[in-house]
Amino acid sequence: MRKSFILLASVLVLAACSVQNESQTNSSSSSSASILPSGKMDQSQIVAPQVGLSDEEWNNSRGTVSDGEDTNSEQEPTRILSEDVDSLIVYFSRSGSTELLASKIQALSGADVVELVAKETYSSDYGETVQRANQERNVENTPELDVEMPNLSQYQSIYIGYPIWGMTMAEPVATFIETYAKELDGKTIIPFSTNGGYGLGSSIDYIETVLAENQVTARIEPAFAVEGNKVDQADSDLMTWYNNLNK
Ligand SMILES: Cc1cc2nc3c(=O)[nH]c(=O)nc-3n(C[C@H](O)[C@H](O)[C@H](O)COP(=O)(O)O)c2cc1C
Repeated sequence: MRKSFILLASVLVLAACSVQNESQTNSSSSSSASILPSGKMDQSQIVAPQVGLSDEEWNNSRGTVSDGEDTNSEQEPTRILSEDVDSLIVYFSRSGSTELLASKIQALSGADVVELVAKETYSSDYGETVQRANQERNVENTPELDVEMPNLSQYQSIYIGYPIWGMTMAEPVATFIETYAKELDGKTIIPFSTNGGYGLGSSIDYIETVLAENQVTARIEPAFAVEGNKVDQADSDLMTWYNNLNK
């Protein structure tokens, strides 16, 4: 299934690598969302310099850098786990946009949170990350994760958050789906995503395919998708989407 994206991904890579947007430099050292005493993600700690850029500056995300630590150089990956909550947000974010979106959904839902990080984190350099992600996708070699997953049986709803890479979900989230597919049986899956302007790609088909391959039945709710530079303008659409979910 993932192989069918190769051609499309390659075209995008060429386009993505052709221009490096110099204006998108991450001057501050990045960090993952810290956790407030209330158990909420602290949005003020999320570093996502591309949020708020004009479309011209954003240039469909080309050149977006990170600190090379999957947004976690100064803080531990976000983990909010409690014993009595029945929804969980699992997300990966390289440059912060998806993390900001995750924090907004967490504020609405009060869900527990687990941030995914790759054992070998992705380069701060956009082109290098594109190259690595394409290689991982083309040889169906999803990266190993550095995360201890809680027992998913506690949760009825799982929000799954990812950036779009090569017109499908970022590879670390593919690792999550493939590893934990069987444990998603009977649950409600709620995808959310940020992208460079080309939408959700085939990420939902991908989720459906992996679940079907594992004989897993799950309800997949309509996904929320927004461009990575516009997460700060998404509140009203996000609220409408959230209120229409069958959580
Ligand atoms: C390796 C890589 C591949 C990407 N491929 C696509 C793509 O195919 N389509 C798209 O719309 N955006 C693409 N993007 C842009 C990201 O989806 C966008 O920047 C997203 O908001 C990043 O989320 P993050 O800040 O949470 O990492 C790509 C970005 C990277 C780093």
